[in-house]
Amino acid sequence: MPSILIDNETFMTKIISFLNHKGGVAKTTTCANLATALWILGKKVLIIDTDQQCNLSGVLGFSQKEGDPTLSDWLKEPVPAPIYIRYDGLEYIPASKALRNMEAELLNKRSRETILARKLEQVKGEYDYVVIDCAPGDSVLNDNALSASDAVIIPTECSGFSLQGMQNLLLAIREIQQEINPNLQIDGYLLVKYDKQTKIAKEVSRYFEKQSEVPTLKTRIRKCVKFDESPLGHQTIFEYAPDSNGAEDYMRLAEELTGLKRPKDWKKRAMKAEEENRAEEEEN
Ligand SMILES: Nc1ncnc2c1ncn2[C@@H]1O[C@H](COP(=O)(O)OP(=O)(O)OP(=O)(O)O)[C@@H](O)[C@H]1O
Ligand SMILES: [Mg+2]
Repeated sequence: MPSILIDNETFMTKIISFLNHKGGVAKTTTCANLATALWILGKKVLIIDTDQQCNLSGVLGFSQKEGDPTLSDWLKEPVPAPIYIRYDGLEYIPASKALRNMEAELLNKRSRETILARKLEQVKGEYDYVVIDCAPGDSVLNDNALSASDAVIIPTECSGFSLQGMQNLLLAIREIQQEINPNLQIDGYLLVKYDKQTKIAKEVSRYFEKQSEVPTLKTRIRKCVKFDESPLGHQTIFEYAPDSNGAEDYMRLAEELTGLKRPKDWKKRAMKAEEENRAEEEEN
């Protein structure tokens, strides 16, 4: 059972990392859209982009100007958290190209795997959820994400290659659980880009559901071309295509994780907040 169900009863911050060593399996898409869905459900959410590709920061509309602090400054210096506001209650810490050097810089630091965890102690109490987008591969930054998290979700495609490298990923997670963060839970595999018409999707999803090493989340994210299009306008699916399968699926995932039910106006909330932002920008 996802540990997030505790959410209904008590006020506790839940920090979730989205990790898979594989590239292109919708880690970033899931962070941006699930975070927005949680915000639509009334949760206060902080998103952290730890990937030097900065894809998530781009979706959220961040374009770094000189002097704008980002995650790497926060990890290296005793500076305030570089938190930016997307909507009221939906905030983010952006990545930057400087993260490229972070790996080497962290290698010389003492307790290098727990820097993010210690930094997050300062701010996490402000939020119901902290959602961390990880880069593909194995890295000290990803160890930092796992060390700081209560849970990890593993987005997984339903292809013949999905299982390749999975044992290494689980090993890395278990190592962090044993050596650094015994609170870390694997909330589950999240099956993404699911196409029920294909035989391989059915076979792979059956495999994930049958294995008992790691739970598989009930919600599947169906294939939806709108996910390719929405980032261009710095939008998630909830601003770009709230009537799409994609919006339905991420809202369903947020409901599964929180145990909450969506509000009646769920399709309008993000669009309305986006319009308000635009009106404010025009005024200034
Ligand atoms: N449900 C979906 N249906 C169709 N395409 C999708 C879906 N989810 C994500 N995509 C597309 O898959 C591609 C990879 O997604 P994304 O960037 O989120 O993956 P990632 O795991 O973060 O990649 P990376 O490892 O490079 O960080 C993108 O082009 C995205 O639009
Ligand atoms: Mg990504």
